[in-house]
Amino acid sequence: MGHAVAGAIAEVMTGIDRPADFIRANTRLVAVPHAPEIRLHVADEATALWSKTEEELGEMGLPPPFWAFAWAGGQALARYILDHPEIVRGKRVLDVASGSGLVAIAASKAGAASVEASEIDNYAIAAIGLNAETNGVGIVARAENLIGRDEGWDVVFAGDVSYERDMAAAMTNWLEVLARRGAFVLIGDPGRSYLARDRLVTVAEYRIAVNRSLEDMEIKRTNVWRFAIGEDR
Ligand SMILES: C[S@@+](CC[C@H](N)C(=O)[O-])C[C@H]1O[C@@H](n2cnc3c(N)ncnc32)[C@H](O)[C@@H]1O
Repeated sequence: MGHAVAGAIAEVMTGIDRPADFIRANTRLVAVPHAPEIRLHVADEATALWSKTEEELGEMGLPPPFWAFAWAGGQALARYILDHPEIVRGKRVLDVASGSGLVAIAASKAGAASVEASEIDNYAIAAIGLNAETNGVGIVARAENLIGRDEGWDVVFAGDVSYERDMAAAMTNWLEVLARRGAFVLIGDPGRSYLARDRLVTVAEYRIAVNRSLEDMEIKRTNVWRFAIGEDR
């Protein structure tokens, strides 16, 4: 049974949805700086929220609350999608490592036929549901690691996934396989340590306002990238 299904059943049985209630209580609803058409439940600061998540929920070893922020890579992708709706219109879209759901919400608003958002963090799954509802869009949140799978998506987005070496390598290799079989794959990334620059070319560049508690500067130059396949390499 998937976590999302298990969570939904638990909610029916108990009448409460702890992750969603926790998110509502510990975030503010704000417009995304580089995609103000979208509003998200976000936190001001990461470390305090992370401790609180563990304390209040009585669960230790939880991952950091990535879902509580609009990351630079996700903001760049969201802006690009909203400005180029033709890339998703009528398409089956996957937003991998969706966090808050930002990129998936942009794709849905831009007219995708269907949008799936994958996450390995159950709080992100709850945040995606809450943020999708807030923005009036329908997204299928999948609590699964889809790396290595190909379900025939037309378009695949990955926002800010190159911050950890092994994950970045696995993610990039998989995304390149999808791109080579013909999926339209875009990555949003501000040049994190493990970004595979030598395999990518820039599609668009933005200067993005980010949360100062997460980043080394307030404005991050952030690109939308695609794989350099064939003549580009
Ligand atoms: C830095 S956040 C980016 C979130 C969002 N894409 C954005 O740009 O705002 C990275 C996210 O990747 C998720 N993640 C890491 N490995 C994953 C995997 N194999 N499948 C799905 N999500 C994953 C984490 O839980 C985290 O929420």
